[in-house]
Amino acid sequence: MKKMLLVALVLGVVVVSGPALAGIPVLELATERGCFTCHTIHQAKGDTKPLAPSYQEIAERYRTSNDAFQYLVKRVLHGTLYTEQNWANDISMRFMPPNVNVTRLEAGELTNWILNLPVNESLRNQLAEHEAMLILSARSGCPTCHLMDTSPDSRLMPLAPAFRDVARRYKNESDARKRLVRSIIYGTRAASKIWPDVNMQFMPPNVALDLESAEQLAQWILKLK
Ligand code: HEC
Ligand code: HEC
Repeated sequence: MKKMLLVALVLGVVVVSGPALAGIPVLELATERGCFTCHTIHQAKGDTKPLAPSYQEIAERYRTSNDAFQYLVKRVLHGTLYTEQNWANDISMRFMPPNVNVTRLEAGELTNWILNLPVNESLRNQLAEHEAMLILSARSGCPTCHLMDTSPDSRLMPLAPAFRDVARRYKNESDARKRLVRSIIYGTRAASKIWPDVNMQFMPPNVALDLESAEQLAQWILKLK
């Protein structure tokens, strides 16, 4: 484990430290890079074979092996076609295609995150909860306009406020949750623009969203760190 961290540091990878974060930024990177098209974090309980091994199973298989980090970074970058099938009987896909949208640095970050997935149950639950909310947000169309964080490319004015900026703005307001639920369900009005530094004049109502989902999303956004 020490060696793995060292390799990650040498590569200049940001090693997520401290239990509070529970690997959440890397979870978001994995979502953006499409890893969850085929993988899940936790092994699904059911009869059908999954497309690909869950990250928890990968961690369990490789955690104690010394050269796992280098080996898996290569697998992630180049894919697994024409090489050994390490999960042949457990999954329904024959190989992982090369992940051409992933840089070497990101592959290191993702692999390190997979290998160090929390064994501790409360951290695991925290991660699973964040994953569920990312999925709900994606299904509800929020990422069409919202990013999780302000884009590092500051030449571009974002369409809508980043969710972490929303959390920062309202963190000391006692009725923030109610307010956000109202904005999410009914949208905001151009006449009383709330966020001056975004490209769109207002948020349209999210008509397909039920009240419970809106409440879950508002609570999740407000708790983002
Ligand atoms: C199109 C489906 C697909 C996508 C997208 C995908 N994978 Fe995979 N992945 C697989 C399959 C299938 C395997 C099992 C390969 C095998 O049997 O050796 C696998 C295996 C792995 C392994 C274990 C390799 C081994 O030899 O045991 C890691 C680590 C991994 N994937 C990480 C990632 C990451 C990180 C991403 C996103 C950047 C990603 N995968 C995207 C399908 C996918
Ligand atoms: C079509 C683009 C678009 C979509 C889709 C969208 N939003 Fe927004 N959202 C905006 C814009 C633009 C603002 C800023 C409005 C303003 O300045 O008045 C905003 C503001 C917000 C705010 C802050 C509201 C406030 O009162 O300060 C929250 C919270 C939010 N959106 C959550 C969501 C969630 C959750 C979803 C998905 C269910 C979503 N948005 C979908 C464009 C969008």
